[in-house]
Amino acid sequence: MVLSIAVAGKGGTGKTTFASLLVRALVEQRVRPVLAVDADPNANLAEALGVECGRTLAEIRERGATPEGSPSSGIGRVRAVEDELQRTLVEAEGFDLLTMGRPEGPRCYCAVNHLLRQSLDALGRNYAAVVLDNEAGMEHLSRRTTNDIDFLVAVLNPTVPSLRAVRRILELSWELPIRIGHRVVLATRVGPEGVPEPLQRDIAALKIERLPDVPQDAAVERAGAEGRDVFALDAGSPALEAVRRIAARLGSALASPPV
Ligand SMILES: Nc1ncnc2c1ncn2[C@@H]1O[C@H](COP(=O)(O)OP(=O)(O)OP(=O)(O)O)[C@@H](O)[C@H]1O
Ligand SMILES: [Mg+2]
Repeated sequence: MVLSIAVAGKGGTGKTTFASLLVRALVEQRVRPVLAVDADPNANLAEALGVECGRTLAEIRERGATPEGSPSSGIGRVRAVEDELQRTLVEAEGFDLLTMGRPEGPRCYCAVNHLLRQSLDALGRNYAAVVLDNEAGMEHLSRRTTNDIDFLVAVLNPTVPSLRAVRRILELSWELPIRIGHRVVLATRVGPEGVPEPLQRDIAALKIERLPDVPQDAAVERAGAEGRDVFALDAGSPALEAVRRIAARLGSALASPPV
């Protein structure tokens, strides 16, 4: 069984940082290998994970949409997309990274997108977990990059605008033609005073599970500013400790029967 986790939230809330800490925590907890998917056109998950960014899926789409790119139909085309997908993967210790990239050009990619979705779902089956770092607008989910999510993690930072974005994301999520097992909310960058009271009530009013808060962590902030990856963080980093608890919670779904 593959555990699929999609991370969504307003721009700049801490999605990529959380997604990369989660990859580290899952790998440490032997939920491995993990497939990390950067679904943000402004890709920076590679940097957060400390790996080189390889070719992007958008480049495959571009080629797949051209007559000379790959066989035009049938099993040959499916194989061609699967091959390209394999070559796009950047391999690291305990996880692989796939970068979606920025779709460009006026062509319609519908047929290629359909193939990609099938191939991605097939690819995901080779992993213990898939962690999808989304762009703020959730376009990739709307374009149905995947058919199946066990956990949609809606991230807030904790401010009123980011809570509003979480509400919108949750509303949108009900309209998506994909299976979403659990919708959960996460407050990150939480200061020593905790989440302010009005926000506490608003989060509770969402009536979905709230994951343990991730604290504002000076070492994480410094690492982000200096372009260092999450694997360079001390094992005792408070944010990493919190994400380890979250990874254990999400990973426990692997042991329970499907919902
Ligand atoms: N727990 C934390 N403690 C301290 N700083 C954090 C924490 N989480 C994230 N940050 C910092 O907040 C900033 C935004 O984080 P991040 O890039 O993860 O957000 P994002 O939601 O992915 O942004 P975007 O929408 O632009 O992709 C970064 O400078 C990062 O280092
Ligand atoms: Mg990001």
